[in-house]
Amino acid sequence: MNENRSNFTSKIGFILAAAGSAVGLGNIWRFPYLVAKYGGGTFLLCYIILAITFGFTLMVAEIALGRKTGLSAIGAFKKLDKRFGFLGVLAAVVPIIILPYYSVIGGWVIKYFATFVTGGTKAAAGDDYFTTFIGGVRSPILWFALFVVFTAVVVILGVEKGIETVSKFLMPVLVVLTIGISIYVLTMDGAIEGLKYYIMPHMSDFSVKTLLAAMGQLFYSMSLAMGIMITYGSYMKKSTSLEGSVRQIEIFDTGIAFFAGLMIVPAVFIFSGGDQSALSAGPGLMFITLPKVFASMPMGGFVGTVFFILVFFAAVTSAISLMETIVSILMDRFKWKRKFTCIIVVIYVLLMGIPSSLGFGVWDFIQPIGMSILDFWDFLSNSVLMPIVALFTCIFVGFFIKPKTIIEEASAEGAAFKSKKLFTVMIKWIAPILLVLILISSVMNALGIMSL
Ligand code: PHE
Repeated sequence: MNENRSNFTSKIGFILAAAGSAVGLGNIWRFPYLVAKYGGGTFLLCYIILAITFGFTLMVAEIALGRKTGLSAIGAFKKLDKRFGFLGVLAAVVPIIILPYYSVIGGWVIKYFATFVTGGTKAAAGDDYFTTFIGGVRSPILWFALFVVFTAVVVILGVEKGIETVSKFLMPVLVVLTIGISIYVLTMDGAIEGLKYYIMPHMSDFSVKTLLAAMGQLFYSMSLAMGIMITYGSYMKKSTSLEGSVRQIEIFDTGIAFFAGLMIVPAVFIFSGGDQSALSAGPGLMFITLPKVFASMPMGGFVGTVFFILVFFAAVTSAISLMETIVSILMDRFKWKRKFTCIIVVIYVLLMGIPSSLGFGVWDFIQPIGMSILDFWDFLSNSVLMPIVALFTCIFVGFFIKPKTIIEEASAEGAAFKSKKLFTVMIKWIAPILLVLILISSVMNALGIMSL
């Protein structure tokens, strides 16, 4: 596999590819509903602090591990220390859990695109539109299947490059559109109250749950703790500045999430008529709130159509990187052919995704640890598995291969690595301690031993 590893030809090529994986539903769908649910500004502040310290450290470590070894996660850990081979395997489980439910949401996005393009703007803004849709059986499953098949066709044909090129042009448009929509929202009556909620932290709202949610979101949004950045790093040239690239990906990823929140959170205040419980809508928040914004704006049908097609592209590039990771692991392990492997993965994703989809309708009585099925997989990957992978990665780097190994890699060919101290302290002490605390609280919380 190693000899086929091509390099990214330019720094910007690397950044765009990594950003293509990072920017997706996590930024536009997941971040806004979490901010709304977990205290607005308090969550936002936690997220930003974590991103520039913790997220930075972990991303530098992962990319450096990949670039140093030239291998993807499973091989990379093993090569540096045989005892840590299990960590690569554990990291590989994460995308396997995420892809099915990610595709369910991807299906919702296509459905909304279809609704807007066929002139259903008014209908989509109706109060029950979303709940009726996800509560159904056939319709959400069909849209979900369409998303999976689309992703698989791209992966089978090996045309990711084509998609990436297309999305390179489309992502900036998405950024501009998101900013434009948020400006429009801010000009509406009642937006100021929502804006305050979104950007002003209230320390009294702070809880371990907020921190946990922010950290899970950080892993998710930056595609960390699942081996993906290790693989990307293995393609990165030695002459590219690691620190600079990571900072740019971070700014890009967090920036988009910030504007997505700015577009959605104040809108919740505007359209809920002061009913604050709307803030805790959960996974459906974007699908409930945005159609109301579009229905209220001039040319809303057009704006909605363009918006959902762009979100679809953002989601597809992320889904491709998830599917590609799973496919290449299986191909390496079982020596299967690419097409056959893709078909197996599609069947798996369909089988695993259907329960998540039905969990909002006919199967809503199934509530593992009190959550819907989709939320359960989301919780398991983001709040349990990813912190475990991240914790072991910190221990591995901090105490086994030592931070200097990463620092040397990050300073290869005379590149500057300014945040050496931050990196060392974070990876050895602060991050592991935080992760242990978070894991304990997340498990206790899930088991209902302690409610936070
Ligand atoms: N980071 C992506 C997002 O924000 C999700 C993703 C996770 C993509 C893991 C690839 C790998 O939507």
